[in-house]
Amino acid sequence: MSKARELTEIGQLREQLREAQETLEAIRRGEVDALVVNGPQGDQVYTLRGADYSARMLLQEMSEGAATLIPDGSILYCNKRFADMVRLPHEKVIGVPAREFVAPADRLEYDALIRRGQNHLAKAELLFCASDGTPVPTYCSVNAISIGDEPCLCMVVTDLAEQKRNEEVIAAARLASSILEQAAEIIVVCDPAGTIIQASREADEFWGKSVLGQSFGEVFPLAGIDASDLQDTADLLRGCLSGKPIRGVGVNFRRASGGNVYMLMSAGPLYDKAGSAVGCVVTLSDISELKQAEEALRESEQKSREQAQMLEQQLIASGRLVSLGEITASMAHEFNNPLGIIMGFVEEMQSTMPSDAADFQTLKIIDEEAKRCQKIIQGLMEFARPTPVTAQTTDVAALITKTLKMIDARLYKQKVGLTEALAPHLPPIHADAQQLEQVLVNLYLNALDAMLGGGHLTVSAQLDGNDDFSKEVVISVADTGHGVPREDLAKIFQPFFTARKKAGMGLGLSICERIIKNHGGKIEVESEQGQGTLFRIRLPVKSLSQ
Ligand SMILES: Nc1ncnc2c1ncn2[C@@H]1O[C@H](COP(=O)(O)OP(=O)(O)OP(=O)(O)O)[C@@H](O)[C@H]1O
Ligand SMILES: [Mg+2]
Repeated sequence: MSKARELTEIGQLREQLREAQETLEAIRRGEVDALVVNGPQGDQVYTLRGADYSARMLLQEMSEGAATLIPDGSILYCNKRFADMVRLPHEKVIGVPAREFVAPADRLEYDALIRRGQNHLAKAELLFCASDGTPVPTYCSVNAISIGDEPCLCMVVTDLAEQKRNEEVIAAARLASSILEQAAEIIVVCDPAGTIIQASREADEFWGKSVLGQSFGEVFPLAGIDASDLQDTADLLRGCLSGKPIRGVGVNFRRASGGNVYMLMSAGPLYDKAGSAVGCVVTLSDISELKQAEEALRESEQKSREQAQMLEQQLIASGRLVSLGEITASMAHEFNNPLGIIMGFVEEMQSTMPSDAADFQTLKIIDEEAKRCQKIIQGLMEFARPTPVTAQTTDVAALITKTLKMIDARLYKQKVGLTEALAPHLPPIHADAQQLEQVLVNLYLNALDAMLGGGHLTVSAQLDGNDDFSKEVVISVADTGHGVPREDLAKIFQPFFTARKKAGMGLGLSICERIIKNHGGKIEVESEQGQGTLFRIRLPVKSLSQ
């Protein structure tokens, strides 16, 4: 090639480059009116000659994305919104096949839309995929237009992301309100000041009118509460807002229409995105009927017990049965009098006899044995005596501390260590404190008898049970003594069973069992020979209705 020709070609190429740069610049400024596309039949020019300025402004500013496509699907023109939607600068969108902005899974649907759009207005929901991979749900409509004489397609794309989000929010709100509408329980949402801002229909029914805007304490005035560390409604909500949820606490509320209603209450805090408490949600289930059923059961148990006693009395009265108690009591009484006389004489003889006299030791033995007989008689009388429960509000922890003081000296003498593990805030129980004292002392003395060579005594008390119906105070008395042989375990609660033939009467545990049963409780034993023994007493917690 001659040098002159090369120079001419370089000049032409420079000219083409300048033109290309100018075109790019015009596209960047949104001034482009035409696009030259290389095709098999040579360059083809697509222009927007008919578009006037105001129409273009409208296109630029509209909230839908808009683009014109030439027959091969490339974008001839697009507005700012379209470029924003696919997250590319305006000039980078021009000339790109629109299909590339459609998510691969939706491309066949896109092809079908384009085909339909060539004949008449066609619409479809399509998932676009922005240049950075962000999925953009859209509603896309395609229509055939002519630009000059050239057939083109006009595409309008509506971003559905916001609408979808709104739909989700609306659906969530609808779900929440239908939950509140349908819930068979009382559900209320309170703001931090305790004002009800949302409520289920049941809440309105409880109050007799709408509870919205009312204070929680006003709608649900407290008549009583089972959890001893909670005082009032304000306390409940305060605890809840500070992050302490309430689970299944028995609460007695006063009804506006009169009377009380017993409910199981749960509450938990609500947090905003920043993690601060913005209120709490409280659920209340009416369990008055359950409570009444429990009361009825307890009453019927009591009645059957009384009926059994009455029947026994009738049998006794009819002369067909003489109760063990009656025989024991009369025998004890008959023995007591002569024994008293014997002891009186012995005491008198001892007082007039010098301590080195030959018979003094004999008299001493008579005195000791007579005293032992008296103790046996006392035990028998105690066993035979009916022991009605005189129940009062009793603090178990205080009772344990008091009874442990009584065995201080023996613990010290026998070198027995003591652990007192009492759970804080134990609820008071409904019990006969004197009888419980008797039970505890019996168990301590048995434990001490089993640890004559020293050991450790652990007395603990705690609350057990998940709901208010099954809540019990559990007292454990555990020792590290010689234990009970396996074959004796079933017998130790039987009257007169004793392994301490000389010292025991075998009545202690049977009296304990009777007392605990009369309190509606249970006594259990676990023992490992050579390791120790544990007695566990379960006593029902005093219920609110008592
Ligand atoms: N902590 C214990 N460790 C080992 N054995 C025990 C313990 N407590 C009870 N026993 C066994 O159970 C038996 C029955 O106990 P219970 O208290 O009824 O009668 P006792 O202690 O023998 O006589 P008492 O009538 O004076 O109480 C005891 O003799 C003993 O064998
Ligand atoms: Mg005993």
